[in-house]
Amino acid sequence: MKKLIDELSDICQKAFTEAGYEAGFGRVNVSSRPDLCEYQVNGALPCAKKEHKKPIDIANEVAEILKGAKAFSKVETCMPGFINLDIDPAFLADYLSEMSRDENLGIIPDEKKRIIVDYGGANVAKPLHLGHLRSAVIGEAIKRMGTAMGNEMIGDVHLGDWGLQMGLIIEELKDRGQTEFTMSDLEEIYPAASAKSKATDENGNPTPAAQAFKERALEATKKLQAGDPECTEIWKKVMELSKADLKKNYDHLDVHFELWKGESDVQKYIPDMLSDFEKRGIAHEDQGALVVDIREDTDKKDIPPCIIRKSDGAALYATTDLATILEREKLFAPDDYIYLTDKRQELHFQSFFRVARKAGLVRPEQSLTHIGFGTMNGKDGKPFKTRSGGVMRLEMLIKDIEDAVYEKIRANRDESEISEVEAREIAETVGLAALKYGDLSNQAAKDYIFDIDRFTSFEGNTGPYILYTIVRIGSILRSYYAAEGEKPEETFKPALEASVDALNLGLSLSRFNEMAASAWKELAPHKICQFIYEVSNCFNTFYHNCMILKEEDSELRASYIALLKLTKDVLSKCIWMLGFAAPEKM
Ligand code: ARG
Repeated sequence: MKKLIDELSDICQKAFTEAGYEAGFGRVNVSSRPDLCEYQVNGALPCAKKEHKKPIDIANEVAEILKGAKAFSKVETCMPGFINLDIDPAFLADYLSEMSRDENLGIIPDEKKRIIVDYGGANVAKPLHLGHLRSAVIGEAIKRMGTAMGNEMIGDVHLGDWGLQMGLIIEELKDRGQTEFTMSDLEEIYPAASAKSKATDENGNPTPAAQAFKERALEATKKLQAGDPECTEIWKKVMELSKADLKKNYDHLDVHFELWKGESDVQKYIPDMLSDFEKRGIAHEDQGALVVDIREDTDKKDIPPCIIRKSDGAALYATTDLATILEREKLFAPDDYIYLTDKRQELHFQSFFRVARKAGLVRPEQSLTHIGFGTMNGKDGKPFKTRSGGVMRLEMLIKDIEDAVYEKIRANRDESEISEVEAREIAETVGLAALKYGDLSNQAAKDYIFDIDRFTSFEGNTGPYILYTIVRIGSILRSYYAAEGEKPEETFKPALEASVDALNLGLSLSRFNEMAASAWKELAPHKICQFIYEVSNCFNTFYHNCMILKEEDSELRASYIALLKLTKDVLSKCIWMLGFAAPEKM
């Protein structure tokens, strides 16, 4: 379905042509002065320059033509040459009807692409922490936005499952003489082993015991990577436990991956890949290491070469990421790639992206995009910590949010309507929305302050406010359907003509497809948040100023209901894209 603004532009461009001017000057914009008009055309000004005429004369000529168009209820000009427009309610009503009949609510699907989104990045055997939270939350939203736009999106968890942490665990188990272990054992074993390998004396130097332990862990890691059966046995068990635990955590966040692959899956490609790079002169040796020059003439600052094999023969983070592209090309042949991590990893991505291009692992038309996000800070502006000062575990954080929401629900609760069990369930749904909206409503690249009180508030620009709006609409619709039955109503015209608040709501809703396209193009979930906040505000104003169910004219009442239903559908689609859902009541 065409964007409304494009439909209006077509009409205005035709008017410019009819008046003898270039069509391009007729582009319509949403008004920057909503107090004066809904839309405006500013093209008479540049057009006048070209034609050596007065802008206002051109504006008046075009306005005369536009007055005959049924799309506009008001056409005015003002100095020095603006054309101010209001849309005709009947025209808007037709647009909204078409939108509500369309299963995509008017979204114009992309030419379907297959896109891999790499947004897990959790490290096996280490607890999921806040650094991975934003990746999961933003990545899931990006993935769903792409899906809504008609693409085939493949999310990969890309586990960190091949590092030193495995060697540390293997050696720690040995020291403890332990062969059996559970996930909660692992949660204690890894931090203990890590601390043991980093122990320092009073001067801050590593102790001999720590050094020796770390040596052994490195050795065990190497043995594992060389396929030693004993180490592999332990690794498999660690993987099995960790994956199950991670799945549970991601499920709880309503984050779901199509692929559960990890760094370990691509190690097998590395030797051939490196010798191929060497043979083709993509990589060369430098002080024992294998490196790729990636400097480009246009670089403003010096970009260091990308090291893909250390002098001791070990592969690095970039090596693994390159081998992962190799595998993804082989198995999935995606059109594009999107990666999400903390923005401190920017250079890493820039660097291996360049190697991938230079080596021809991807074709020039494939895009490689890294979304680098900021940190989540506490109210003191520093990276978020628990009350006791430790790094906050994800489960704890989620629980704190759920508890805060639960308290609010309990305070408002009418016990005949919401039982204790229900209140807990609702708190889970609303808590997740509070957490995700609190994150997604900020531009991803920016740091943001995690503020439980604000995030869980039922008022203001928050997840719970949006959900509350949806719940309120749902309850009005239920009452209406219970009294009058469900009929396929799409008559928007009476509502838009009767109430300026309904008209404003309709105007906001009509921008849905335009918003969805631009949020996706810019990979900016915060634009969806802005949009639903605006729609919710419009709805709530309308709700406060209008009797909906008590409206006596049944046709007008039905028309209000059509508008409510579309509002609910649009909001629901938007929160689905953001990765959360609304409860029935709250
Ligand atoms: N495991 C990494 C970390 O915790 C993140 C991996 C991100 N994805 C990637 N393809 N490099 O920092």
